[in-house]
Parts: sequence; C-alpha cells; structure tokens
Amino acid sequence: MEENRGTWSSRFGFLMAAVGSAVGLGNLWKFPYLAGENGGGAFVLVYIVLVVLLGFTLMLAEMTIGRNANSDAYGSYNKIRKGFGFIGGFGVLAGFLILSYYSVVGGWVMKYIVASFTGVGADKAGYFSNFIASPVEPIIYHLIFMALTALIVIRGISGGIEKASKIMMPALFILLVVIVFRSVTLDGAMEGIRYFIQPDFSKITIKVVIAALGQVFFSLSLGMGIMVTYGSYLNKEEDLEKDAFIIPALDSLVAILAGFAILPAVFAFSFQPGQGPGLMFITLPAVFEEMPLGVLFSALFFLLVFFAALSSSISLMEVTVAFGIDQFKWSRKFATIFFTVLMFIIGIGASLSMGAWSGFLIPWIDGNSYGIFDFLDVLTSYYLLPLGGLMGAIFIGFIWGVPNAVKEIKLGSAFKTEKLWIVLIKFVVPVLVFIILLSTTGLLDRLIG
Ligand code: TRP
Repeated sequence: MEENRGTWSSRFGFLMAAVGSAVGLGNLWKFPYLAGENGGGAFVLVYIVLVVLLGFTLMLAEMTIGRNANSDAYGSYNKIRKGFGFIGGFGVLAGFLILSYYSVVGGWVMKYIVASFTGVGADKAGYFSNFIASPVEPIIYHLIFMALTALIVIRGISGGIEKASKIMMPALFILLVVIVFRSVTLDGAMEGIRYFIQPDFSKITIKVVIAALGQVFFSLSLGMGIMVTYGSYLNKEEDLEKDAFIIPALDSLVAILAGFAILPAVFAFSFQPGQGPGLMFITLPAVFEEMPLGVLFSALFFLLVFFAALSSSISLMEVTVAFGIDQFKWSRKFATIFFTVLMFIIGIGASLSMGAWSGFLIPWIDGNSYGIFDFLDVLTSYYLLPLGGLMGAIFIGFIWGVPNAVKEIKLGSAFKTEKLWIVLIKFVVPVLVFIILLSTTGLLDRLIG
C-alpha cells in the first residue's frame, strides 16, 4: 500500500466513506421536511430528475479533478490551472459555514438519544420547540458534537471513520427499513404515502425547483470539494464512472426511505407536513410510541442518525482542516482546534437564533430576512454550493478541457456515458444551475418582468 499520501484501503472502504459523507442529516432530517414543505411528490420528482442530470455529472467531475491532481480541494484546482484554486477555496468557506449549523442539529440528535429513555411527553411539538429554543442545553450538545468531530479529525480519518462507516451505514439502512414498515402500516398512513409519491404537477413551482437543487448539492456533498479530496486518494484503476453512479443512487435511496419513514406518520398522527426542521424530531417519537420495544428502537435509531451525521461532519471539517494545513502550513492539531473554536462560536449564534435571538434577522438579496440558522442554511445550500458546482463545471468544460478529463476517467472506466456526460458537463449543468441561481436571487423575475 502506498503510504506517502495515502490511498483507500479498499474500493469498498472508499465507497463507504464517500457514502458516509453523503448520507447524513441531509437525507434523514432535511429531505423529508423539504418534501413536506414543497408539495411532497412534486419535490421528490424534481429532486430525482436533478440527481440524474446534475448529481451524477458533478460527482464524476469532482472525483476526476481530485484523482488527476492528487491534492486537496484548493490545491487540486490550482495544480491543474494556476490561479483557479479559488474554486476550491470557495468550497472551504461553504464547508466551514455548513458545519457551524450542522453541528447544532447534530446536537439535537444526541439530545433525542437521551430523550428516547426519558420520554418526550404527549406534546411532541412543544417538547421539541422548547428544547431548541432554550439558551443553554442545545449549546452544550452542540459543543459535544463539535468536540467529537474534532477528536476524529485530529487523528486522521482512515482508521476510525472508514471502519465505523462500514458497520454503521448498513445498520442504519436495516433499521430504517424496519421503521418504514411500522410507519406505512399505521392507520391513516395511506394519505402520507400518496402525498409523498404522487406528483401534483401544478405544485412544481420555481421555489420547489430551487429547494430541490440546493438539496441535491447538500445531500450529495457536492460543490465544495469533498469529492475532489476523496477522489485524490483513489488509484488510477478505479472505475469513477461506476462510483459516480453508485454513490448518488445509495444516497437517494436513503433519502426516499427516510421520507417513507416520516411522511406517512405525519398524516397518521395529524401533524402538519410543512412544519420545517422539527419534522423528524416530532413525528418519529410518535411512531416509536406505537412500536413494541419503542424505547429501544428510538435510541438505536437516533444513535445511527448521530453516526450518519458524524461521518458527514468529519468530511466537512476535513476539507477545512486540510486547507489550513496545506495553505498556512499549520499542524493538523492546530488547524482542527482553530476551526472548531470558530465554528462553535458561529454555531452558538445559530442555536440562539431558535430562541433568545429569534428577533435578530439578516436581510438578504432575495428580499427576505433570515435568522442566523436559516441564513447559514440558505446561503450555503442555495448559493455557495450551486455556485461551486457551476464553477467546477465551467472549469472542466472550458478551462481544463473536456478531453483531458475524459482521458483521466478512461484510465479506469469503459466510460459508456462519455457523450452524454460531455453534453451534461459543458452545457446542461452550467445553464441549468445558472438559471436556477438567477431565480434564487429574484434577478430572473426582474429581468423578465
Ligand atoms: N451530505 C451530507 C448530508 O446529507 C452533508 C455534507 C457532508 C455536505 N459534506 C458535505 C453537504 C459537503 C455539502 C457539502 O447530511
């Protein structure tokens, strides 16, 4: 085994680490509530179309850049064409901001492991909103989550997380299937199933498309150089084309299962599907109450969600830390501690914006004002990640050049989808992402009146 820069110990290990980065709170927490807020089946349909068009294309693009340049996100772009490191640098900023609020939600998940045993009472929505609005407890959990992330990243990723992912990911999958089964067999679940799988085309608005686009980037860990970094540890025989298919497929499967676990229960218990970030935390405790051994299932489930979140958060932190090490020549330890402290502080603001600071609003170019938590989410999912993806696509299509990328991919793949991929990366991805970005800012409305 090559030890100087490191390579993945096995193909399965790489796939699990990449899937571990992709599968996280985005699938289990965000996807169901976004579907709930954006027309159910309409959102799911748009999401799947965008995964096929963009997810596969950009996943392959990022891994190809990384494997060719053999460096971190910033370094890879810079190595291929001097002066373009800023594309990776942009991703570093996005990752930094995402983790600041991601770890707050990671803390909520830890709280719910504990709450599985203590119970949440009859008013599940009230319990959740009281908890996240309180000034101290969520911040303590946030701190613990950040500290655990930092501890793993300080030690380097290979040993612990690659091994843990290989066990946790399959376990999560099995448990999710069990919960789906309970959820869809509840009395009154049918309405939720219908809501989730029946696309009502009249509900497909530009808002739904924007939400789905942001979610594709977020859930697949695209647009910020993680797949560049992970790809850089791959050898030249690796079949990138296949990987770029498998990772999005598994990620989407978990998201859809999470939707089937949560939305039928929403309708069965007469909750509101559009209630946002609380959805998972409010409906699932109600489902577990209806199950034999519910306490056990609940604790186990939130434990696995916690591991899924952790395997994603370390990938987010790793990009930032690698940047500190390579660009400022910091030690891994110093870089990790430095960024952890900064992220923890921003996260305090995100957490307080759910309660004490809910009146503090940040005006944004789309005409809305957001609390800190929502601002970090909107800024990264709807602007920074798509922008990172757009720049990545343009970089391959028009700066590095498609023939160079194709040559790199063909080292290990038959690349049957070559022609399709070229059209997608050069034209479809840039045009689509650009249009959606314009409409996100409200600029398109102004342009076309
Ligand atoms: N994909 C992860 C999730 O769904 C979150 C995540 C990890 C991420 N790394 C990322 C999001 C990089 C965007 C970019 O929870």
